[in-house]
Amino acid sequence: MSRFLTLGIESSCDDTSVAVIEDGYKIRSNIISSQIDLHQKFGGVVPELAARSHLEAIGPIYQLALKEAGVTIDDIQLIAATYGPGLVGSLLIGLSFAKGLALSTQIPFIGVNHIEGHIYANVLGHPEIKPPLICLTVSGGHTDLLWMGKWGSYQILGQTTDDAAGEAFDKIARVLGLGYPGGPYIDKIAKGAQDDLEFVKKGNLTNTYNFSFSGLKTAVINYIQHQKQLGLELNVPRIAASFQRNVVIQLTAKLFHAIEKYDVNTVLLSGGVAANSLLRESCRNQTTRLGKQLFFPELQLCTDNAAMIAAAGYYHYLHAGPGDLDVTAEPNLKL
Ligand code: KG4
Ligand code: ZN
Repeated sequence: MSRFLTLGIESSCDDTSVAVIEDGYKIRSNIISSQIDLHQKFGGVVPELAARSHLEAIGPIYQLALKEAGVTIDDIQLIAATYGPGLVGSLLIGLSFAKGLALSTQIPFIGVNHIEGHIYANVLGHPEIKPPLICLTVSGGHTDLLWMGKWGSYQILGQTTDDAAGEAFDKIARVLGLGYPGGPYIDKIAKGAQDDLEFVKKGNLTNTYNFSFSGLKTAVINYIQHQKQLGLELNVPRIAASFQRNVVIQLTAKLFHAIEKYDVNTVLLSGGVAANSLLRESCRNQTTRLGKQLFFPELQLCTDNAAMIAAAGYYHYLHAGPGDLDVTAEPNLKL
């Protein structure tokens, strides 16, 4: 049987990525060019620098992705590119490149929602995953608890009312003087550290599916300032580990409340924060105890990459055919 090859293109934030995947789930190549070094000194993504860097990177990364997959553009049957949400200047680079390519080659094109891409990252290597399922999507820009009755249909149970989970990790890492993006630094420094600090009063975590991280963030910042005022040395690993535990407790409390209420057997984690080792371990322990199936993407596939965009594009194409070449960048696109 001939293989169906999808070319994926992702440029919504600060990673330029192009991938080739086979039959919707096998990765032939997934080249990711990160701009971390460019933005590190600013402690966050600078939109103008990001767009310029995408423009320089996209051509070479595209060539590399085809080469590593051992194919030419003539072998590709579908081009899938992120059209939102994200930074408009960044989105436009990848999207315009993809549409130009589709127009000149007559290869079908499909625009992909970046958040859906994160969810479909789970299918890469696991085509057996089937709804109904509950998915927790936690990234630098999103914290969504979703019930999916079938692929492509999303019921949002809860969202963050303030900061996204990843955003909170990044902010606390910054005040602790750790690097950017902060999640991986906090994860690493927290390993084996004391995690006993309670920054906020324990409230009822299951009275709503919505999340909130700004109270915790402010409490951690106040604690740090207070320690400094007292002339005390900061125990960075202990603060990082306690903060991380607080975030994970909130995420898992709501996730498992939803799993019980909706009585699903399949649970997905997705987005950059799904790379967090405590979140993965805590979900693994709880799903094992409940006899549920848990999936999370490989570490490299949790954060932004084009293979997940190709996967989401492929399944939409299978069910509804190609998308429209008129699609434009939508910075605030929702699920
Ligand atoms: O999904 P992603 O690459 O980009 C967005 O779509 O936002 O997520 C990036 C976010 C950053 O906030 C980063 O700090 C966080 O994911 N992150 C982590 C870890 N790895 C990445 N947060 C906690 N623990 C990690 N190991
Ligand atoms: Zn993302």
